[in-house]
Amino acid sequence: MRRILVTGALGQIGSELTVRLREIYGESNVVASSKSAKDGHEELVASGPFEIVDVTNREQLAQAVQKHKINTIIHLAAILSAVGEQNPHLAWEVNINGLYNVLEVARHENCSVFTPSSIAAFGDSTPKDKTPQDTIQRPSTMYGVTKVAGELLCDYYFHKFGVDTRGVRFPGLISYKTLPGGGTTDYAVHIYYEALRQKRYTSYIGPGTKMDMMYMPDALDAIINLMEADPKKLIHRNAFNVTAMSFAPEDIARSIQKFIPEFELDFDVDPVRQAIAESWPNSLDDSAAREEWGWSPKYDLDAMTEDMLKNLKIKLGL
Ligand code: NAD
Ligand code: SER
Repeated sequence: MRRILVTGALGQIGSELTVRLREIYGESNVVASSKSAKDGHEELVASGPFEIVDVTNREQLAQAVQKHKINTIIHLAAILSAVGEQNPHLAWEVNINGLYNVLEVARHENCSVFTPSSIAAFGDSTPKDKTPQDTIQRPSTMYGVTKVAGELLCDYYFHKFGVDTRGVRFPGLISYKTLPGGGTTDYAVHIYYEALRQKRYTSYIGPGTKMDMMYMPDALDAIINLMEADPKKLIHRNAFNVTAMSFAPEDIARSIQKFIPEFELDFDVDPVRQAIAESWPNSLDDSAAREEWGWSPKYDLDAMTEDMLKNLKIKLGL
């Protein structure tokens, strides 16, 4: 029986993953944790065990693992790309030292570990189209540096200490429950809110800038399916390219216009996030994930747009 600790559980992924894991493994077997119990998450905090865990505090992490007899850590606590460029020291502290603490605790307490990497693990010298699973990784952001180092560290803990580490390189994730935490791909979430509220959106990412993206239900499936995959079939543990779609701002605008014909898009490009976006792939090759553990996303752009608009309308009371 899995006993799971989710770090960073109140973020964009964790707030939905925790609920899904509780449905599958039982409420009492899934412990949500974050560095503080933020307002607005009372329902999640009350729906099962919750612990305050700052991942930079190894003792606090170890105590939560021991107290709840945890055997699986899903490590989501992190600083994302745009915030990481504003505060690279914090990004290193949380993304590297936090992961190191998770792996050390996992080693001593016999836990398996899932940690997401990102398209940010690639850089300007990486092939941009159909970016291969195994290729050049020379990112230009602190977030990207921590993601490459994290992939290597997770491989190291598997080979050296036998810790069952697994991970995927997520693209930009789109969801309606919790707002994203300060990444470069966040525009692809904000655009839906503004489409419903204002019928227009000003994009900080410029026209023609393609990035990989995925709808949250597919991202949750990716985590659970990889966690449950037969280890004998896994050649690439940390981390698998996964994607569902690749689009530029004008492509998502066209998809929204199929449902809100009067929607308008214009641009006010932010040079920092634009440079980050341009250093990332246009589209990933995720064939290794498809072959090794059956990865297969369900949502394309229009299916996601329809579902996002339907659910956001309810959330925003429109
Ligand atoms: P998020 O920013 O929404 O959530 C991260 C959570 O971690 C936040 O609630 C934050 O308060 C918490 N946190 C920060 N510092 C902490 C600390 N010291 N101790 C404990 N908690 C701390 O991020 P997310 O989108 O849910 O991302 C989760 C993981 O997935 C990250 O590793 C991220 O890099 C990766 N990822 C996300 C995306 C995406 O588009 N959302 C894409 C690729 C990879
Ligand atoms: N969505 C994330 C970001 O933009 C990708 O890792 O930071």
